[in-house]
Amino acid sequence: MSRFQTLAWGDQALVLLDQTRLPGELVYLECRQVEEVARAIEGLVVRGAPAIGVAAAYGMAVAAGEALDQEPGAFRRHLQQARARLARTRPTAVNLFWALARMEEVLVAGNGLDNRQLYERLLARAEALRAEDEAICRSLGRQGAGLLENGFKVLTHCNAGSLATAGYGTALGVIYAAQEEGKQLRVYADETRPLLQGSRLTAWELRQRGVEVTVICDNMAATVMRSAPIDCVIVGADRIAANGDVANKIGTYGVAVLARAHQIPFYVAAPVSTLDLSLASGDQIPIEERRPEEVSRGFGRATAPEDVGIYNPAFDVTPAELVTAIVSERGVARPPFGPALRQWGEGAG
Ligand code: MRU
Repeated sequence: MSRFQTLAWGDQALVLLDQTRLPGELVYLECRQVEEVARAIEGLVVRGAPAIGVAAAYGMAVAAGEALDQEPGAFRRHLQQARARLARTRPTAVNLFWALARMEEVLVAGNGLDNRQLYERLLARAEALRAEDEAICRSLGRQGAGLLENGFKVLTHCNAGSLATAGYGTALGVIYAAQEEGKQLRVYADETRPLLQGSRLTAWELRQRGVEVTVICDNMAATVMRSAPIDCVIVGADRIAANGDVANKIGTYGVAVLARAHQIPFYVAAPVSTLDLSLASGDQIPIEERRPEEVSRGFGRATAPEDVGIYNPAFDVTPAELVTAIVSERGVARPPFGPALRQWGEGAG
């Protein structure tokens, strides 16, 4: 069991573990207004594709709660504005839009209900999505655990763990499931510049669960692949196109290239809600660009001169040909990915 909870509902508020304060402080933030939820997503208080989706779902319940006293027409308009606001927070993780669509279904089905009934249904749906996400991660973990053998050294990038989901994790979920089968693993966590999700979050949560972890700077991955040596790479995803191209944290593509050069399997773990079968390839995935200060003033200190250009894409796309397998709650897919992903997507219908 985790000694922390990434997100939960309590006292008519969405309660988020503030990930910007980790690993130094374990602090929870209460969001009672939809604007607070939106800012928490933008500011990475809550982050990771599945967690963003679940937080946005709760955001719709928060929006309903704050407008209960309005007349029904104004209440519905408020919910539509809330949905639009939440949809503008982060463009890359498709789980956000997937979760908002699941909340919209509640609004459509609840035509004729009063404000309070609608609020209760939205909250119940958000709670269901949270529980479903955790259950999905657990079965995804079991599906992927067979890829990891006792004694493996596993490299990961960014954080695709309990902190990035409603609980358990995707890439780290596979590691936890292998550990629960009695396998001893050592994880190498790329620090993940510029915001250090690997060193701040992945290393922290792996230690919470007793997994051995070594933090490396991103530029050490090639050396570690050769010298450790690494047995496999496993990462999460923010969006997977119909052909198996994978958007994930910036730097993932470079890790995949290095893995291929060292003949190391490169695995992607993601729930079916991360598939975007409407996109033929990764070229069409919108990539978020974040504030230059995240690069030039990393954690408040000047890390570049003021008068230089800064480029700060938050994600990149790894071409399907560099991916050895994709793990979801439905199984393990190998190339060519198209047929398996289509089957998974249709099954999710
Ligand atoms: O910018 P972040 O921290 O939200 O990016 C997170 C990632 O890239 C994760 O690897 C991805 O969302 C998968 S989380 C299970």
